[in-house]
Amino acid sequence: MRIGILNSGGDCPGLNAVIHGVVGAASKLGMEVIGFRDGFEGLIPPGDYMQLGLTDTVGILKLGGTILGTTNKRHFAAKLGLVNLEEIAGTVVDLTRETLDGLEIEALIVVGGEGSLGTALHLYNAGIPVIGVPKTIDNDLQATAMTFGFDSAVSCVVDALDRLHTTAVSHKRVMVVEVMGRNAGWIALWGGIAGGADVVLIPEIDFSLEKVAAVIEEREARGSYSTMIVVAEGARLPDGDLITKGKGENSVRLGGIGEVIADRIAELTGKETRACTLGHLQRGGQPTSLDRILGARFGVKAVELAQQKKFGSMVSYQAYHVGSVTIEEAVHKVRTVDPNGEVVHTARAIGISLGD
Ligand code: F6P
Repeated sequence: MRIGILNSGGDCPGLNAVIHGVVGAASKLGMEVIGFRDGFEGLIPPGDYMQLGLTDTVGILKLGGTILGTTNKRHFAAKLGLVNLEEIAGTVVDLTRETLDGLEIEALIVVGGEGSLGTALHLYNAGIPVIGVPKTIDNDLQATAMTFGFDSAVSCVVDALDRLHTTAVSHKRVMVVEVMGRNAGWIALWGGIAGGADVVLIPEIDFSLEKVAAVIEEREARGSYSTMIVVAEGARLPDGDLITKGKGENSVRLGGIGEVIADRIAELTGKETRACTLGHLQRGGQPTSLDRILGARFGVKAVELAQQKKFGSMVSYQAYHVGSVTIEEAVHKVRTVDPNGEVVHTARAIGISLGD
């Protein structure tokens, strides 16, 4: 059996571990693996691909990024000059079918987040044998308790907070650290708890900057002259504003809320306040041990699902076990933080303010 693999959307620590897992498991089962470059663009006939054997994947498990390269849907559409969604969807099906048939590939593993898995589902519904693998640092996918990449992103936030604490304390400043996560607050909440934040602001909980200012003043009265605030890029300002940056095809990008909040906090408290946006640092670098293991396990499971011809299914992590669900269960809606859930409760219990 010959199988194909591609990753699509933003890169994510652990992608190479998935590829390592896929190639290792496939070679044990006597399968051949073809890796498509740059996401779905690698499927444009006759295909831009590389043969992936055991020697091609030596040492990649620990590497950040992806040896296959990746692009997102907007890039794909621009490359082919496509504008409307129907046209994009139809084109992906046609060119995938042509390339897979040409290369005699019997299963395609798509490693992606919500958007790319939506495309995978579309391919499956059009009769193409697809297996999904969930990927995102945001950890916002339904039907899997965790995605690889999240732990590495959280570790990056924690490392940054450890560093920022020392300078914040020295200068008796307020630090506002903006982290990724799109419309979910997972990275902010986990990073904030592990990194000792005093305030965590997330999209799922409405906050007031007056309340945040009050927290800073109470801390001051207790002799704690610096305050660490973590804000998720998708958090909305109290007036309901979602900050986006970029123009045209980039206008959906979030970011910039950290600077805005820092300015308002400085006005409200009179304290020196600095903003720090971690940005793509959170996506770069080597994956943590957890993400290497999760990635490798996901890769092995994807090959097994392909061998069993369980097309239309997605690898899923539930209760310490790697199993599978349908791709259908994973897309359509993102998984956000439960404002009344146990992790938020833990944050509050250890004295973190959510600004509400
Ligand atoms: O979904 C992953 C993510 O890193 C988000 O957290 C962030 O909003 C977005 O991708 C950034 O995308 P880009 O790399 O296109 O700027």
